[in-house]
Amino acid sequence: MTNPSTPVKLLHIDSSILGEHSVSRTLSADITRAVQQQHPESAVTYRDLAQHPLAHLSGAHLSASSGNIPDDAAFKADIETGAAVLEEFLAADIIILGAPMYNFTIPTQLKAWVDRICVAGKTFRYTANGAEGLAGGKKIFIAISRGGFYGKDTPLIDFEHQESYLRILFNFLGITDLTFIRAEGLSTGEEARNAALTHAKLEIETLILP
Ligand SMILES: Cc1cc2nc3c(=O)[nH]c(=O)nc-3n(C[C@H](O)[C@H](O)[C@H](O)COP(=O)(O)O)c2cc1C
Repeated sequence: MTNPSTPVKLLHIDSSILGEHSVSRTLSADITRAVQQQHPESAVTYRDLAQHPLAHLSGAHLSASSGNIPDDAAFKADIETGAAVLEEFLAADIIILGAPMYNFTIPTQLKAWVDRICVAGKTFRYTANGAEGLAGGKKIFIAISRGGFYGKDTPLIDFEHQESYLRILFNFLGITDLTFIRAEGLSTGEEARNAALTHAKLEIETLILP
């Protein structure tokens, strides 16, 4: 548990393509405000992956990681951005992630970010005993938004590759302190949408914060 008077580094990330209509953006902002109230001295880094998308990982990126950097200004700038993304992730004590469901999984913009933070030797490594996460000790809040219902007793459970993917991914990197705030059934009518939002916002108000 972090002492409230200790300055913490917060990393707030949004990935929704729906701008001001986005539910995950609303919820991630609410979570960030709540954490900031608990840690007034905190420094917040914000990254909007829809406004400023990262390039998808390519063969050239893998080659650059072995030192083969082409003489191309745009590519060099992209490599620098990737290094900054990794550094932000490693430095953060608390991460707040807005993660909508698009086509049963996370947005492609968020996946591009994932591909920049999964770096062998930095955030995980393989040992004789298997994979080992190197990014432990962080707390992550994840604002999940989705049009349908994907809970364990629903017919769509097998279609759910959003929350389960993020859980496995962060566990793989050594991060087990994950809190999911869910707004589900957002496409099933106005009443259900309002109820989902009210429920998620109430959950944020009663969060046990680090
Ligand atoms: C491109 C797109 C794909 C979507 N795919 C799904 C889906 O597969 N399953 C689902 O339940 N909802 C789906 N939805 C609904 C979104 O999950 C819902 O609108 C949610 O509010 C998105 O989060 P956001 O408002 O933060 O962008 C989709 C929405 C969009 C725009």
